Amino acid sequence: MSTTVHDLELPELDTFGLDRAQARAAMEAARAEHWLARMPMGYTVTRYADVVGILRDRRFHSALSLIPQMAGIDDETFNRRRQQSILSMEGDEHARVRRLVAPSFSPKAADRLRPFMRQVVDGLVDGFVANGRCDLVADLCEPYPIPIICELLGAPKEDWKLFSAWATDIFRIFNGDVANELPLIQAASEELEAYVRAMIDERRTSPADDLLSTMIAAEEAGDRLSTDELVMLCEAVLMAGTDTTRNQLACTVALLTDHPDVWARLAEDPSAAAGTVEESMRHLGAVRGTARFASEDIEYRDVVFPAGTLVATSLATANLDPEVYVDPTTFDVTRVHPKQQLTFGSGIHFCLGAALARAELQEALPVLARRLPDLRLDGTIEWKPDTVGIWGPARLPLAFGATSGGQLSAS
Ligand code: HEM
Repeated sequence: MSTTVHDLELPELDTFGLDRAQARAAMEAARAEHWLARMPMGYTVTRYADVVGILRDRRFHSALSLIPQMAGIDDETFNRRRQQSILSMEGDEHARVRRLVAPSFSPKAADRLRPFMRQVVDGLVDGFVANGRCDLVADLCEPYPIPIICELLGAPKEDWKLFSAWATDIFRIFNGDVANELPLIQAASEELEAYVRAMIDERRTSPADDLLSTMIAAEEAGDRLSTDELVMLCEAVLMAGTDTTRNQLACTVALLTDHPDVWARLAEDPSAAAGTVEESMRHLGAVRGTARFASEDIEYRDVVFPAGTLVATSLATANLDPEVYVDPTTFDVTRVHPKQQLTFGSGIHFCLGAALARAELQEALPVLARRLPDLRLDGTIEWKPDTVGIWGPARLPLAFGATSGGQLSAS
């Protein structure tokens, strides 16, 4: 007989105010005790099987569209725009858009940008390498994804700064103060929309070799993406593809400051990057969780989740599940992953940009390892507050280059 989730006796989990180590310990203790835990806003699943189970269950819908409502925003246009994003669409509507755009985000499409990615990283390293030290977050991770997204979409170099500013402002939606930040978020969103609409008009008459032109041309059984859908996809790509990549790269390099052998290997053998990226995303993922709500009364594992119940899925805790990974807390870049790490999510909303993100990380690491040898921390890593959705170092002070006679030589 099934029980309603509200009536179950469950571990209580409230990580608010805990530091990272305490929060992780609490999540892991909850995972060991039960597959489900109660949190202030709803429930959470922490085991690999259930995180995948909930994310693949189409009756659970993305909770992203609920952020503005939960923050008390009743601006209809703003809320509709969030609901019409690929990130919060569901069912046939979502499947149709994914089918139309999937070829534009294939590994082959991402591979074409690899030389450009190396060029961008090299250019950014040129800016600080002679100093022998840097803050990798400000000097490299922050600026890195914008040129890639612009190149992908087909926006020229002189507009990189515009995209960077729009991304920063649109991202305020995750800062926990949407009500006050709304005018900035809206202004950025409207400017981006006007820019993208103009680009679409131009590409419709003279197609180029870029994502926007491919998406305009994408057709399946006579069906095409509308201009509104194209605008929404460009905004989704900018939103989902910048801060994620920045933080993941910073998390990965932060981890590697503890593993000089891996850093040295990456410099010699770029093919080591693929395993390093997967293991670092498993071990220290920048997206630590996502959330769903029950779109109807749902029975899952003999438990009834009444319509509207919020269920968080802890990707980070599932990535360290001992049921799936041997010795899960050990960072081992040679590990054979029995199952795919979950930092890109799972199910219908699985990261559309995963191939591009993997390529960005795989191209950045060997260039950095080659140009910043003998990498070491040059102070303390400052981590973002635990409450932020997309998480990583706020500051990553590094020194590099062989030290000789008190002089730092860069390479
Ligand atoms: C390391 C970098 C990245 C990480 C960790 C990451 C992670 C994720 C996760 C966890 C989801 C699923 C969210 C959910 O289920 O609620 C997602 C979705 C998405 N990601 Fe990424 N992402 C990254 C990079 C990118 C890039 C570079 C792009 C675009 C170029 C991108 C575009 C998207 C889009 C459009 C979705 C929504 C897909 C859908 O709802 O069907 N992401 N990403």
